[in-house]
Amino acid sequence: MTGYYFLLASRELIFDEFLKRVCPPRELNWRKYRRASRRSVLSRIYQLGLRGFFEYADYLDANPLEAAFLPNLLKVTVSRFFRETELWDHLAADILPAMAAAHPASRPLQVLHIGCCNGEEPYSVSLLWKNEIEPVFPGARISITAMDIDQTCLDRARQGWYPRKTLREVPVELQKKWFEPEDGGWRLDEEIRSMVNFTKLDLLKDHLPGQQDMVFCRYLVFTYFQGKRRREMARKISECINPGGLLILGRKESIGSQEQDLFTAVHQNLKIYKNER
Ligand SMILES: C[S@@+](CC[C@H](N)C(=O)[O-])C[C@H]1O[C@@H](n2cnc3c(N)ncnc32)[C@H](O)[C@@H]1O
Repeated sequence: MTGYYFLLASRELIFDEFLKRVCPPRELNWRKYRRASRRSVLSRIYQLGLRGFFEYADYLDANPLEAAFLPNLLKVTVSRFFRETELWDHLAADILPAMAAAHPASRPLQVLHIGCCNGEEPYSVSLLWKNEIEPVFPGARISITAMDIDQTCLDRARQGWYPRKTLREVPVELQKKWFEPEDGGWRLDEEIRSMVNFTKLDLLKDHLPGQQDMVFCRYLVFTYFQGKRRREMARKISECINPGGLLILGRKESIGSQEQDLFTAVHQNLKIYKNER
């Protein structure tokens, strides 16, 4: 190993040791954070005038307010349109048509995204709705609310400009119809953007809007949280979903034994669950 790679590897090891020390007591899954969060922690350390990760770990132990801020500091903000395409194929072919057909015309289908990042996920739903559902069910209506703790993400979401890599799973015909090239990236059409209502929310503290028919909570609670924290957030989510409504997780996530009384699998591989409440 050359000196440069040795240095990189040892930096990662030190950060891992830091995560192993600070995450488990706060019911956070240290294995999931890794490199993406390292830079945010370092800039917080410099801001506080501390000398490194271990001094910051001591500071966290001595300052409960700083410790409460830790999940926010470590958070990972990565997303893509139609991330994990099999899920979106199934939503377009089965789930959304069935929901649109069964839903009373008097009330829009309520869809909530928790941890919506820069809007890629809720806009994927609005793209599907506009292209696949509206032409077949012209009377059906949808209300999409998207929430995130990160104001920068929400501002980006409202602006609707995306770098090319976040569009790599967007079907070509949708890209041609709804995105315009701009400044080396792509701007999403206003008609699709206007279908999503973005709001700031800290899931750990704030109330969720109730009576949801479908909730997306992908790569947040069921990846980064553990123990009582995870169980409490799972319960909070189940309480905001109508009886029989759906919870959608990421492909690498699952409902664990501690949440099995709240949700049952509708599609085990695609991580689609039904609210059992
Ligand atoms: C890894 S991204 C997942 C984005 C998207 N759901 C997906 O799967 O592509 C996690 C998102 O959750 C947000 N987040 C983290 N902690 C949160 C909290 N306490 N309340 C609300 N959002 C949070 C982050 O800001 C980030 O945008």
